[in-house]
Amino acid sequence: MRHKHSDYMHWSKTRSRARFNLATSGVAAFPLRELPVDLEELEINGDNSYGYAPLQSAIARHHDVDPECVVEAAGTSMANHLAMASIVEPNDEVLIEHPAYGPILDVARYLGAKVKRFSRREENDWAVDPSEIRRSVTANTRLIVITNLHNPTSVHTPDSVLREIGDIASNVGALVLVDEVYLDAVHEGTARTSFHLGPEFLVTSSLTKVYGVSGLRCGWILAHPDIARKIQRLNDLYAATAVYPGELLSVAAFKHLSLLRERACLIVEADRKLLHEFLAQQPALSAVKTDWGTTSFVRLRNGNADVFLNRLRDNFETSVVPGRFFEMPDHFRIGMGVSTEMFAEGLSRIGHALSA
Ligand SMILES: Cc1ncc(COP(=O)(O)O)c(C=O)c1O
Repeated sequence: MRHKHSDYMHWSKTRSRARFNLATSGVAAFPLRELPVDLEELEINGDNSYGYAPLQSAIARHHDVDPECVVEAAGTSMANHLAMASIVEPNDEVLIEHPAYGPILDVARYLGAKVKRFSRREENDWAVDPSEIRRSVTANTRLIVITNLHNPTSVHTPDSVLREIGDIASNVGALVLVDEVYLDAVHEGTARTSFHLGPEFLVTSSLTKVYGVSGLRCGWILAHPDIARKIQRLNDLYAATAVYPGELLSVAAFKHLSLLRERACLIVEADRKLLHEFLAQQPALSAVKTDWGTTSFVRLRNGNADVFLNRLRDNFETSVVPGRFFEMPDHFRIGMGVSTEMFAEGLSRIGHALSA
């Protein structure tokens, strides 16, 4: 039986919400009324067979790549699916980080890949260790997958490490897929996309997490033109064309990206300050602190996080993401960037739940 579902996605859609919702990964919604856009110019139908040219160009400019390398997709979810499906054949080996964002594993399994893992360890600040990848690859490895920033920890992987992974991949004829949906959450000195590091890199991203416009589903893949064309042809089987009004609004979002980003940055950084103060006072919790990113992965030093999280939800109306969705049941993920008032109250309730 093929794997045909994502437990995390189902939980996220049906169980993650609470009055104090810290189970988020994206920032506060950016309202349409604050986007400088002329709604008279909105249209329902238009020329977008293999992408809407102004959006392709906006994405290409954002990353300083050729528009030929850009494939539009419905969010990073569809971008990851298309990228993997166009590369991976059943029984190919796919090497995926641990802990990982669940749907990436789910898609690889759905495609019939042999999923192998490499560890990012807390005692090593969740860094990727290329020597472990080197030991794990074989002639059957087709793809190595990492997220940068890492979900759930928000740890950044530098270009030097990515280059090493690229070399390991090209030695066995594999590619490296880097999901960069959180990379622009690095608000100062943001790294260039790893797509520039070499022909073995393939990148996915979207405007859904860092910019507050998830509803536009504006996602994309950066791939070398031959792979990009293959992905476009595959997308004919899934989505045919994108939602044209969504593409028009996405172009407007790109035009005002710094406005969207600044707004998000203020909330995320205020939340991060609160989180660091909170963790400093909580001996029951530990976390690798990061300077950037919208999530933090917290360890409950003693005890079962599931029991604690049920109590947190039932008695304190607060939700976070259980670590079991990242195959680490003594952890949980906290999301920043939605509302500092809600975040502060959520943290305070986690504190009360811990002492209850
Ligand atoms: C690492 C990662 N990739 C992809 C996605 C899906 O993003 P999108 O909403 O753009 O489909 C998420 C969402 O949480 C994510 O954390």
